[in-house]
Amino acid sequence: MPWNGRHFLSLADLSSEDMLGLMQRATHFLDAGDRYEPSAPLAGKIIANLFMENSTRTRCSFIIATKRLGGDYIDLLGSTSSASKGETLVDTALNLEATGVAGIVVRCSEENGARIIAENIGVPVINAGSGTSSHPTQALLDAVTLTRYFGKDDLTGEHVAIVGDIAHSRVARSNVISLTTLGAKVTFVGPSELVPDDLGCETSSDFDAVLSGVSACMMLRVQFERDAKVGEDYREQFGLTEERAKNFDGAIMHPGPMNRGLEIDDCVANVESSPHNLILSQVTSGVATRMAILEHLIG
Ligand code: CP
Repeated sequence: MPWNGRHFLSLADLSSEDMLGLMQRATHFLDAGDRYEPSAPLAGKIIANLFMENSTRTRCSFIIATKRLGGDYIDLLGSTSSASKGETLVDTALNLEATGVAGIVVRCSEENGARIIAENIGVPVINAGSGTSSHPTQALLDAVTLTRYFGKDDLTGEHVAIVGDIAHSRVARSNVISLTTLGAKVTFVGPSELVPDDLGCETSSDFDAVLSGVSACMMLRVQFERDAKVGEDYREQFGLTEERAKNFDGAIMHPGPMNRGLEIDDCVANVESSPHNLILSQVTSGVATRMAILEHLIG
């Protein structure tokens, strides 16, 4: 079924044209930078940020995107909300809707949390990360970052390695949809216990072999809080070490937060280390991409 533009729940709902349209708008916002003269499409509207899990980048960029579009926001965190007294996710969302908010941005541990909210309320819902299954705004901002890096409209002909703890990564699951829809090949790399083989793309445990043939390398955080276990040789086998980075001239990405010294060496993580390091560009793209999504759904 074609995307109706009402909610933003999964990139599987969007066609390549839908993604490219949002990416072009995000690129417009990025190009305009501080010179962007807001037409204030969110003026008079309040967006609810409902973050049941912790966040730095996603939460802040949704707040800034909302303000740059002339809107206002409320910020409800799981730890300080009545969810801590047992209120359900849907009841929390229903109560936010009853206060008159124009849309809800939700991060939660439930795999289908954002979609379940969308099925129960009347205002637009944006998925800011659900369980291990989806983080669609992150994947779209990654696509924006990569197309700008390559100087292309889409990702046809590119090959992206996604490396590390794939098993627990909603970023990997959303990125495989957007990257392949936009024409790129994806290879998942990591220890077999952290790389499921049922996600529809090539897998490998030989990082050096894969790195020699890709144009972008997306490092993932080992999610110890979700009980990921890695061996003592993890950095040596799967880390983007100084040695590996020296011989790689493609794009270096990480959605953050990073385990410096494990999946990526400290010196490689520092953006001044290489013009190919896109880690903070991803964050900048995040504001513009979320502006494009908010404008499209609610503006
Ligand atoms: N990339 C990302 O989702 O980061 P946060 O958890 O800080 O939002």
